[in-house]
Amino acid sequence: MNGIFAARKGILATALMTSIALVTSVTLAGAAGSPAPNSNGCTGGQLGITKRPFGATPDGTAVDVYRLTNSHCMRVKIITYGGIVQSLKIPDRDGRLRNVVLGFDNLQDYVVNNSPYFGAIIGRYANRIADGQFTLDGVTYELPKNNGPNTLHGGPMGFHTKVWRARVVGGQDSVGLKLRYTSPDGEEGFPGRLETAVKYLLTEDNTLRIRYRATTDEPTVVNLTNHSYFNLSGEGSGAIYDHVLELNADAYTPVDPTLIPTGEIAPVAGTPFDFRSPTSIGARIRSNHPQIAVGRGYDHNYVLNQPPSGLGHAASVFDPHSGRVLEILTTEPGVQFYSGNFLDGTLIGTSGRFYRQSDGFALETQHYPDSPNQPSFPSTVLRPGEEYDTTTVFRFSVRG
Ligand code: BGC
Repeated sequence: MNGIFAARKGILATALMTSIALVTSVTLAGAAGSPAPNSNGCTGGQLGITKRPFGATPDGTAVDVYRLTNSHCMRVKIITYGGIVQSLKIPDRDGRLRNVVLGFDNLQDYVVNNSPYFGAIIGRYANRIADGQFTLDGVTYELPKNNGPNTLHGGPMGFHTKVWRARVVGGQDSVGLKLRYTSPDGEEGFPGRLETAVKYLLTEDNTLRIRYRATTDEPTVVNLTNHSYFNLSGEGSGAIYDHVLELNADAYTPVDPTLIPTGEIAPVAGTPFDFRSPTSIGARIRSNHPQIAVGRGYDHNYVLNQPPSGLGHAASVFDPHSGRVLEILTTEPGVQFYSGNFLDGTLIGTSGRFYRQSDGFALETQHYPDSPNQPSFPSTVLRPGEEYDTTTVFRFSVRG
């Protein structure tokens, strides 16, 4: 049985807070309470959400940015285009706020230049599908190839390019946004009309919780993720080689020269892929291991040591410079660790600086790449009457 379909109903007790139609910034929801000042001037703020216009797509569709805040200085901006996490501010060990995700400060760049998929919801199928095709129930489906011979991240017009419908949600200790998108039958070659909902929830314990749900009217394949690139020292501050990564995985899926898994589940022991003990990302990234060569660094799916059901600990990352810690929990069986190898100094990020190789890393919780063509991998098939339901948690803290 597919782990992804193990419903986790009731874990997010949320309630519709308000419906909104605003032109300028307005506080939409907020809990009363005094700000919690800390020694370095972060006044804490309060639980709330505001909405502002963020421009329009080339076809004239309006795009909004929602700003979610909590009373512990965490601030997250999400745009309705691509469901993109555009900014995520979190204090360092001295209380200083920095934006720790890569991105752009304007919609135009997301529409034209987001080849790295900064911050976006990825669908219908995160990661690669070999030769842009798969066969399901005896029918072969052809997908647009946008990554050499393969299909990457749902195709060129995947979910990262869609304007999602937004609704404010939340509870007593959380504030959030529910995004919906209906993908028509045949979109980017995938069968079935897919009703998709992605809920972002910011909680008072400095956690961004993401729940992905989908249903279909025909058998199809689904693999959704978020493609945020993190730099815990701050976006635009240079390479992430000193970040210390721990990955809860005994194995990974080696890839061929086009980054399609060979089908092997290989132990990480004795290789540069072993992050079971905390190790800096840069420590072995220049090793001559053939898999490092293929990916130009890390660009591999890890087979997580997951509990039989529910959220498991996938990874944690510690930045010794700022003291910021990111912990990732997920219901997914895998995570793609991508060390930003193809960032090439051509894109100017949110704070006006060029992004170069390894200026950010992504940890994309997911099912394994190319599962529709790999019968030995956990299934990504979704059938009518079933519900796709996965959750991933990004939890932030600081360490001395
Ligand atoms: C892939 C990389 C790709 C990047 C941006 C990652 O998920 O694994 O190979 O370059 O996304 O497209």
